[in-house]
Amino acid sequence: MERLKNRIAIVTGAGQGIGRTLALGLAREGAKVVVADINEENAASVKSRVEASGGTAFAASTDVSNEDSVQTMVDESLREFGKLDILINNAGIFPVSSVEEMKEEDWDRVIGTNLIGAFLCSRAVSGTFLQQGSGRIISITSGRAFQGAKNAAHYASSKAGIIGFSKSLALELAPRQITVNVICPGITDTAQPRGHQSEEQIYSQAQKIPLGRIGQPEDLVGTAVFLASDAADFITGQTVIVNGGSIMW
Ligand SMILES: NC(=O)c1ccc[n+]([C@@H]2O[C@H](COP(=O)([O-])OP(=O)(O)OC[C@H]3O[C@@H](n4cnc5c(N)ncnc54)[C@H](O)[C@@H]3O)[C@@H](O)[C@H]2O)c1
Repeated sequence: MERLKNRIAIVTGAGQGIGRTLALGLAREGAKVVVADINEENAASVKSRVEASGGTAFAASTDVSNEDSVQTMVDESLREFGKLDILINNAGIFPVSSVEEMKEEDWDRVIGTNLIGAFLCSRAVSGTFLQQGSGRIISITSGRAFQGAKNAAHYASSKAGIIGFSKSLALELAPRQITVNVICPGITDTAQPRGHQSEEQIYSQAQKIPLGRIGQPEDLVGTAVFLASDAADFITGQTVIVNGGSIMW
């Protein structure tokens, strides 16, 4: 079943990890995907993978923290496909530093990519979505938004910001039937946690997760497809937690 047949989906940070898996997963459901990533080579390789499995993709070299780059990506996507239906704000970085040692530029870089990036991409598609009277925005937060992140206060703040931003945007866009939701993964098997944790630390976290393992990027595809599909028409301003039960409330 192709639940997203002929929908156009932008996925930021789709060159690797969760974003790549989401791009491939949306394409499996019939979406044509814009693979937007700061790493041009990875974006091109994901475009080829989508095409090799019979889908349609466009690779856009994009820095989500840069207003002009984001606008160019959205303009090129519109030129390529003629409309836009889905935006997944996934691009993110997770450098580590204590607050005491954190430079203002470290703070700005993380907020700039993770939070301002989501704002810039959402703003850039909102004109088209408002004109169409349809559209889906899905942003990726993190359990760190709720639990905090020792030595990554900028990251936790950016991810908490995603939730407040998304609820606010959901209120603004609801009158035009545009929905804005958030997916909250727990620790997921990509390069990101390996940038700041050893395999041993990851293994010990997995043991504390009620479902007995850390997440795989594929675990997030079902929720993303659902929120992007007609089945989620009446869901907006929500955060869906996909974490094997590691935080419950
Ligand atoms: N992996 C986890 O444990 C985990 C848990 C919770 C949330 N998340 C979030 O999920 C998202 C994806 O994480 P991941 O684990 O796949 O990370 P990853 O590091 O494997 O991939 C991140 C991607 O974002 C791209 N990117 C970085 N800066 C960019 C920029 N300025 N513009 C465009 N692209 C940029 C990178 O090139 C890369 O392709 C992130 O927002 C992350 O914070 C990850």
